[in-house]
Amino acid sequence: DSELITSRLMVNGSEKISRRGMPLFLQHSVAGWRVNSSLVLMIRKDVLRFLDAERDVSVVKSSFKPGDTIHYVLDRRRTLNVSRTLHSLLPDVSPLKNKRFRTCAVVGNSGVLLNSGCGREIDSHDFVIRCNLAPLAQFAEDVGLRSDFTTMNPSVIQRAYGGLRNASDMERFVQRLRMLNDSVLWIPAFMVKGGERHVESVNELIVKRKLRVRTAYPSLRLIHAVRGYWLTNKINIKRPSTGLLMYTLATRFCDEIHLYGFWPFPRDANGNVVKYHYYDMLKYSYFSNAGPHRMPLEFKTLKMLHSKGALKLTTSKCA
Ligand code: CTP
Repeated sequence: DSELITSRLMVNGSEKISRRGMPLFLQHSVAGWRVNSSLVLMIRKDVLRFLDAERDVSVVKSSFKPGDTIHYVLDRRRTLNVSRTLHSLLPDVSPLKNKRFRTCAVVGNSGVLLNSGCGREIDSHDFVIRCNLAPLAQFAEDVGLRSDFTTMNPSVIQRAYGGLRNASDMERFVQRLRMLNDSVLWIPAFMVKGGERHVESVNELIVKRKLRVRTAYPSLRLIHAVRGYWLTNKINIKRPSTGLLMYTLATRFCDEIHLYGFWPFPRDANGNVVKYHYYDMLKYSYFSNAGPHRMPLEFKTLKMLHSKGALKLTTSKCA
């Protein structure tokens, strides 16, 4: 059977929108959920034809020397020099080497998490992946505290930590990194030009303050490979969101993947307003073609995979 698995799962058709501004497919929720282990294995095998999370999750020290030139993945004309600090923080081996977990949580940042009471359930998973250094302490009841793997787009430094320009922003950032407690900090440093100054400041801070984090920097092929996987499943995503990247990586080492905080819509199923992020006032235009992502399309796919037992998507309160 040469057809790839997710193409069998997809429904065709345009995204019809209801009067309340909700895509209609969201209105049919699936009662009860059980993992479909054979489907999980098939997806893992399919994904492995494009990428292997063990290898692609990070470049390693032996891939580069200080002074080497890297072409940005999404802007090949521009380049970055591998600094001594960056090189010193490249892992010797992949942080996911030989890792296997029974259950994993991938936590997105949607405001749908507020008042969910999902914190305890999220923290109970064997491996918890979080995105973009989202704050935890003030929201612990809804989002939990535990992190084993945290992503950090360079833009977060500007957006949430004032570009680390003053001492108080820097201290706040250091405190946030201390919470990672020797877990993985995943920095997509080679995607596009623009954030290199921030990445270098972060790297220097980690070295100078001897912060206990295990840094990782995605391979130069990761994003194309993830895109390729979804594309051959007829899902054309210009630039996969961090959340989708994390799910795709997790298929390699998690037997059961539970997603929380994925809700790229301005309202919930009852028509109540949902914040884009649970922790700030950022606005987002979900259906715009101008932005890099197509989160509603990603969500539709994830929802389909949920209904088949390939993953579990939680978008309401936890029990
Ligand atoms: N997400 C979601 N619905 C939201 C907000 C986020 O489904 N309302 C998911 C997306 O998969 C997103 C992830 O949660 O990638 C992390 O959210 P965020 O930090 O906002 O990611 P962005 O910075 O917006 O996007 P990216 O890092 O993917 O560029």
